Amino acid sequence: MTNKYTLERANNYIKNNTVVKDFYPKVNFAAPVGWINDPNGVCIFKNELHLFYQHYPYDSVHGKMHWGHAKSKDGYHWEDLDVALAPDQVYDKDGVFSGSAIEKDGKLYLMYTGHIINEAGEIRETQNIAISEDGIKFEKYKNNPVLDEKDVPEGSSIQDFRDPKVFKKEDKYYAVIGSKTNDERGQVLLYESDDLFEWKFKSIILPYNEFLGDMVECPDLLLFEDKDAFLLSAMNYTDKDTGEFYPHISWIIEGKVDWTTFVFDVDSIRKMDGGFDFYAPQTALISSDPNEYIGIAWQQAWHRTLPSHDLEHKWSGQMTMPRIIKEQGGEIIQKPYSVIEDAVKVTDEVEEYHLETSWQNNFEDNYIEFEIDSSEKIKLLLSNSQGEDISMTFDGIQQQLNFSRENTLRIEDIHGKVFNRSSYPIPIKNKKLQVKIFIDVSSIQIFINNDYTFTSTFYTKMPLDLLTISSESNPIINNLKIGKLQ
Ligand code: FRU
Repeated sequence: MTNKYTLERANNYIKNNTVVKDFYPKVNFAAPVGWINDPNGVCIFKNELHLFYQHYPYDSVHGKMHWGHAKSKDGYHWEDLDVALAPDQVYDKDGVFSGSAIEKDGKLYLMYTGHIINEAGEIRETQNIAISEDGIKFEKYKNNPVLDEKDVPEGSSIQDFRDPKVFKKEDKYYAVIGSKTNDERGQVLLYESDDLFEWKFKSIILPYNEFLGDMVECPDLLLFEDKDAFLLSAMNYTDKDTGEFYPHISWIIEGKVDWTTFVFDVDSIRKMDGGFDFYAPQTALISSDPNEYIGIAWQQAWHRTLPSHDLEHKWSGQMTMPRIIKEQGGEIIQKPYSVIEDAVKVTDEVEEYHLETSWQNNFEDNYIEFEIDSSEKIKLLLSNSQGEDISMTFDGIQQQLNFSRENTLRIEDIHGKVFNRSSYPIPIKNKKLQVKIFIDVSSIQIFINNDYTFTSTFYTKMPLDLLTISSESNPIINNLKIGKLQ
């Protein structure tokens, strides 16, 4: 088969093209050139964190997907590597879609979805394996696909069958795979293997519930000691209470797998992140602590305008910084990755600050931390002399975060609807509201009480270099820290 999407062509293109860096992140990962979406194959291999990602190098839009690749010694600084997989086979010719990685006998195995449009013009999705000795150069398994439409249980779609996340439990390998029923209900399938090559269908591990919309993408199953959790993304979900429609949304679903029936019993479901730009998170166990995973998500949203594309900057999309997803005291918490937190050099610090209406300071930094009593409400405004700003109000009284990027470059959906304001409920269990904010060139990641997170992009013509903190109630701000990631 002749195919113009070869690894060689992709790597040459990347070497010979550069991006315009106006909005390009300094901390978060973005592609050297081109479009990215989901993180794939997040894993530790030979003591380094590997990040593969959905990548179309040739344009700043989604296209025939490849797997881009980077690695990091510390989970913070990334080294770009050659593209790992190109859509160069009959079974993946229209896209090497999302998947995951696992180490076996010292080799790195990738399991990914081959996306094709067949001669009848119908979509088919199959699961495939690629193997590497060094974690850099991958060879696709000669008997691919390892799962195809014959392996899909009756009543489930053979077109939407994607994003295998592989894991090992005792001496078996398992993969959870995003799926939907033929009557358009999201669900997750479980497959089992002894050797990563021969797979068999095991169960519908997560049957449909209303939160799963009409398709599940990128399911990830985290097995903690006392409970389990699915992180997954659902398409076309409508909130019954508010009527709000989400074309894409990511959930944390807590519960427990029953390993006799291979079905996950759901305890609770909540949004994984309240921001505009957070999708398809994927995790890996990083330490000997079985309760601690590192997770990275695509910090972007589908079908919204992208200033870096519109202005022909030759790149689109970025990842969140790694975060920790951990079971602690029976709860699942999310907090910044310690290596990144430790890299913050505090430039200004006040233990206790009594705020009289407002406080203003030049802001050349990218980190803000503080605590207030949960009976308070304060507003942070990051602005510049061009009239651009983002604002966030931490409202302990209403128990919500109000975020606005109204005064930044316009971002709209395919219907022309602008997305620039959001209210995110933050039910506070403790007396304090503890906030940590990481600001990159075109994005913000907010962590509240290691529990609620809010992740969003914003695009400004000039840096936001003035910080104003204001409140109507003269609150005490504790442990106010301003800092810079170095
Ligand atoms: C999620 C997703 C996956 C798919 C990939 C294609 O964002 O739609 O389901 O594998 O992106 O790029």
